[in-house]
Amino acid sequence: MLIRNTTAGYGVVSRLFHWLMALAIFGTFGLGLWMVDLDYYSPYYHSAPYVHKAIGILLLIALAARFVWRVANVKPSDAHFTPFERVSSHIAHAGFYVLIFALIVSGYLISTADGRAVDVFGWFSVPSPGENKGLEDPAGVVHTYLAYVVIAFAVVHAVAALKHHFVDRDSTLTRMWSGPPKT
Ligand code: HEM
Ligand code: HEM
Repeated sequence: MLIRNTTAGYGVVSRLFHWLMALAIFGTFGLGLWMVDLDYYSPYYHSAPYVHKAIGILLLIALAARFVWRVANVKPSDAHFTPFERVSSHIAHAGFYVLIFALIVSGYLISTADGRAVDVFGWFSVPSPGENKGLEDPAGVVHTYLAYVVIAFAVVHAVAALKHHFVDRDSTLTRMWSGPPKT
């Protein structure tokens, strides 16, 4: 099994990062939308935000590890892309790292504005930077907007991947799904 990327496609580590994080991000988004509408008497009133925050913090660790892996590996060739696709995919991929980072930090700022730490499944907790009353609301607005922007980016990005697969019939999607083409 190919661990590292080659110029022909993505190794298993990049692929696991990509698909597990995509699943977790869509799941965390759905959980976020659902949990903000729960009323106080719901049995999930406390546990849903707890899980939302804990998965969000794990996503931050995964994002950092993925970034290091990305920098330490070659990028599969984009020679088959048009100049527009080359530029737009670079912007989208770099944009994902920045937007997801900002999304998680804004969530952390909502949760810790009252001075409480974020507990991650009892394994460890991330301390508050200090009580900052009044930060909850602006951080909440930023968090909500960023969540929608990340999902909108992901939808456009997925449509582009499907276009490569079904219209251009090239290996862009398969080399992210099952690795470089077997030769
Ligand atoms: C990829 C990661 C994340 C995604 C996609 C995400 C998405 C969302 C969404 C869609 C909402 C609902 C917004 C609304 O309709 O008002 C929400 C709310 C919230 N999120 Fe996140 N979130 C993420 C990470 C985090 C993290 C890391 C934390 C904290 C450590 C966090 C804390 C919160 C809190 C406290 C709320 C409730 C805000 C309110 O009551 O208005 N989120 N999130
Ligand atoms: C929240 C969801 C998603 C995020 C955050 C995301 C993020 C990324 C990032 C950052 C890259 C660049 C490689 C890397 O740094 O690992 C990438 C590549 C790729 N993604 Fe996604 N992605 C998501 C969902 C999807 C979906 C749903 C599809 C397909 C239906 C998809 C298909 C691809 C493909 C084919 C590549 C390789 C592009 C190339 O070789 O230039 N992604 N994605």
